Amino acid sequence: MRKNIVAGNWKMNTTVPEGVELAKAVVAKSVEVPAEVGLIVAVPFTHLTSVASVLSSRVELSAENCADKAKGAYTGEVSVDMIKSCGAQWTILGHSERRQYYGETDEKLVEKTKLALAAGLGVILCVGENLEQREAGKHFDVCESQIKNVLFNFSAEDMKNIVVAYEPVWAIGTGKTATAEQAEEIHAFIRKVLADKFGTQVADNTTILYGGSCKPSNAKELFAQKDIDGGLIGGAALNADDFIQIALSF
Ligand code: PGA
Repeated sequence: MRKNIVAGNWKMNTTVPEGVELAKAVVAKSVEVPAEVGLIVAVPFTHLTSVASVLSSRVELSAENCADKAKGAYTGEVSVDMIKSCGAQWTILGHSERRQYYGETDEKLVEKTKLALAAGLGVILCVGENLEQREAGKHFDVCESQIKNVLFNFSAEDMKNIVVAYEPVWAIGTGKTATAEQAEEIHAFIRKVLADKFGTQVADNTTILYGGSCKPSNAKELFAQKDIDGGLIGGAALNADDFIQIALSF
């Protein structure tokens, strides 16, 4: 059966020393969290090595992105092998901030996902609609096409190393959370899209996280939904107490 996971997405926050302190605090409190809940921190590239050195095996490490090329003359880019060599086990891909501000396309995400999986990194693939799309009633279509364009290029076997994060753009960093019903409706839909392509077993085994203003006060209600298997946490992950509190909300 699928795993429950709470992953922190630090985004472009904390200096390296601050990040190390935060990671240490998360590790110290992680003993409170039942073993069946996976814990991941996704940190800036610059932090990977230092944070890896203070993490325990209880808390896994993720990058927030990776290059769409394996190696070579791509100034400023960071490859999957580099990420892996820092001690990370995961990378987030397709976060809406990357799609919106850095021109991340589904085509690029296919390349990135291929490289990440080949390097042995798990992928947390983000999908989700913006406010305009939600108001136009297109949220199902948007999520379906993001899933199809990227994940339908992969196999059932690959899906074992892929986590989906549904993050409605209008709920990210805005304090506006999707209601548990709104989130569950899309999560169930995403699982159905996966089931139609890969079969029910793969769909049932795929962890689907909710992200967007998830915090200690709303995590319980969200995680109580049948198809919500945890959260991708932005702002609240910058505070170890809040992050762990969320992980205790199953
Ligand atoms: P938020 O961010 O929790 O600050 O809304 C979530 C995310 O973007 O992953």
